[in-house]
Amino acid sequence: MNLNTFISKATAPVNFITSWEAPSNIALIKYWGKEHIQIPKNPSLSFTLSSSVTKTSVNFKPSNSENFDFDFFFDGTLRPDFNPKLLTFFKNIEYYIPWINGYKLIIKSNNSFPHSSGIASSASAMAALSLCLMDLEKYLFPKMSEAFFYQKASFLARLGSGSASRSIQGPVTIWGENKTLKNSSNHFAISFGDGLNKIFNSYQDTILLVDKGAKSVSSSKGHDLMHNNPFAENRFLQASNNLDLLLPIMKSGDLESFIKIVELEALSLHAMMMTSKPYFILMKPNTLEIINKVWEFRTSQKLPICFTLDAGANVHLLYPLAYKKDISTFIDQELKVFCQNGQYISDQVGKGAIKF
Ligand code: PMV
Repeated sequence: MNLNTFISKATAPVNFITSWEAPSNIALIKYWGKEHIQIPKNPSLSFTLSSSVTKTSVNFKPSNSENFDFDFFFDGTLRPDFNPKLLTFFKNIEYYIPWINGYKLIIKSNNSFPHSSGIASSASAMAALSLCLMDLEKYLFPKMSEAFFYQKASFLARLGSGSASRSIQGPVTIWGENKTLKNSSNHFAISFGDGLNKIFNSYQDTILLVDKGAKSVSSSKGHDLMHNNPFAENRFLQASNNLDLLLPIMKSGDLESFIKIVELEALSLHAMMMTSKPYFILMKPNTLEIINKVWEFRTSQKLPICFTLDAGANVHLLYPLAYKKDISTFIDQELKVFCQNGQYISDQVGKGAIKF
């Protein structure tokens, strides 16, 4: 596609305030490995979450100087330590929103999930901020279509953090080119669209907080290490093939097949970490304890529960809403003990970002 369609022609600076809430997401088909800037080596697919969200308000103030400036507040406190990451983001998107140079931005953000819970907040944070930026563009160009609004928001978010492109819409999004999905793109995520089996609209995600500390290896470093991983090419192929297999399953609701692909993807992601140079492990002993308990429970109770992992030690338990009662008892009786301070977050598939 011609990316020039994303270059804004907006000029006149206006005083404007907007607030957006964007959700976190959990990938079922994992993105791990990229080219500059956030062009994925394979397509990915995720559940958009519902209660794990970032809320961001931006006050756009026309500035006298030509220099772009911003203040970032997190939980009500000015946090200049976030500035380098935000500055890189603004540099990456400046070409597409040249009007930004006429402004000083006051950005205020907070997360619904506990601070430092080990849940990556960059996806929801970059998505919420991108939606605020798009809201100003929409104000300046009221005829902008809704489709373009969300597409460019996802495009901008991707330039902040790849997985953020999938945190704009819901309930299931796909980012990265796939031959069977004609409108799929490496530049922005698209919604699954028609035909999603209704069981997935209310799918549950209980996030077991195994380790709330900072990760020993960041995602950016992990992506980077894929350049020299001897298994990388096969992994990119495997992920693409797994997406091809998963797409019809998301329509049929065949949970047995769903579980096999989702768990294979989670373990393949971590296998890449273990085979990078230098190698690293982000799972903790309790991650494996939980996985084994889930497998035992699934076999004995014949309930369609499975796990996935992101780049960390926490475990996401995925299951249909209909089994919530039984699975909550299982979590409280057998899994909670493996969580740091017994903490977990009960979330579920959500509809996407909202303005508030
Ligand atoms: O968006 P990033 O650069 O933080 O990478 C996210 C990588 C995983 O969470 C491990 C997988 C994914 O697709 O979200």
